[in-house]
Parts: sequence; structure tokens; C-alpha cells
Amino acid sequence: MTRRIAPSILAADFGRLREQVREVLDAGATVIHVDVMDGHFVPNLSMGAPIVASLRPVTRLPLETHLMISNPDLFLQEFAESGSDSFLVHWEGNFNLHRTVQAIRALGKGAGVAINPATPAAVLEEILPDVDQVLVMTVDPGFGHQHFLHSTLGKVSRVRQMIDRLKPGCDLEVDGGIDWETARLCVEAGANVLVAGSSVFGTNKSVPEAMSRLRTGGK
Ligand code: DX5
Ligand code: ZN
Repeated sequence: MTRRIAPSILAADFGRLREQVREVLDAGATVIHVDVMDGHFVPNLSMGAPIVASLRPVTRLPLETHLMISNPDLFLQEFAESGSDSFLVHWEGNFNLHRTVQAIRALGKGAGVAINPATPAAVLEEILPDVDQVLVMTVDPGFGHQHFLHSTLGKVSRVRQMIDRLKPGCDLEVDGGIDWETARLCVEAGANVLVAGSSVFGTNKSVPEAMSRLRTGGK
């Protein structure tokens, strides 16, 4: 399965954000992953819509916005107006996920659902027809640079089967602890989009080298 890399700017050097975004574009990234944390849904703070607004004029890459926040509905419009192209919203803690997905659609944006490591694939069944992407978290959300949870691989395969059955063409994305070795395992399990922060921006290799290694699996 062909793999696409979605660099997460959480691991980028914010003082050089514009250059870092250019580097990943030149190295073949097709999307930029923006991790939004509120210190409540996850025990960490990151960035808000002003970062999206400042990135918008400096890249033509789509900006996918991963909302790790307690009430995503309150912020969709602000992010959309700032330049987000798609949203990844969590199943966990959202009692009205269908409404959230419809609100994203009403803004004309792409919609994806994210599930945490302890959440079973089965919860996706009813929402899958309404989304373009599923994000399987391969770490507990909240921090970059965590160890990949191998226990999530079986779920990646189960989500792949469900997508093939119910929504062919839906992207299956993995997020957390993805390096060139775990990337290979995830692609074998059925993922086609790999979110990568530390293994793109935080290695002793250049960004193009790091991206190429992720894409080829070290070969
Ligand atoms: C984790 C975030 C990830 C994170 C990935 O809560 O959703 O996108 O930035 O970082 P790495 O690739 O360093 O595990
Ligand atoms: Zn993320």
C-alpha cells in the first residue's frame, strides 16, 4: 500500500516554522498535521488557531487539524476561518460525534475520527460512512516523542477491514511513535497515512533524509 507522510509540527522548531514547513513540502509531504491540545482532554497544552493562520500564507499544503480538546464544536469555525482544511476529532468524550462531523461538513472541510489506544475499532462502524479519514492513535495522545504501542497493530488491521467493507477510499492514518520501523509495521497492517513528528524534525538526519527513510522503510 502506498504511504503518505503527514509531518506533525508539534516536533518542529517554532522559531523556524516557515522553513520547516517548506522543507517537508520539498521532501514530499502531502499534508501538515497540526496537534491542538487544551490541557483538559489531554494533560498538555500546544497551539491554537493563530498558528494555523500564520502557516496558511506560507504553504499550499493542506493543514489537517487534530483536535485533542474537550469541546471541539466550539472551535471549528475559528480554525476553519484560520485556514484548516480538515479536522480529526476524537470519539472519546464526544456524546454527539455525528453532530460534530456534520458541523465540519457544513464548513466545507474534511472530517476524520480519531480513536485512542484503549478504544475498540468497533465504535467506528456507524460513523465511518460519514468521514474521509480514521486516525488510530498508536500512543496515548498528549505528547510527542512517546514509544509506539505495538498492541495497537491488531486494531489497525481491523480498521482496515472495516474501511474496505464500509468505506473504501477512506484514509487510515496512524499517529504516535512512528519511525521508519514502526511505519513499516503500520503499513503492513493497512495504514496509508503516517503522522510523524520526532522522526521528521527531531533526528540527527536532515528533514529530507528523515522523510525518505520513513517513506522507504529504511531501504
Ligand atoms: C500525540 C500527537 C502526535 C504527536 C506525534 O498526542 O497527536 O501527532 O505529535 O509525535 P511523535 O511522532 O513524536 O510521536
Ligand atoms: Zn496528532
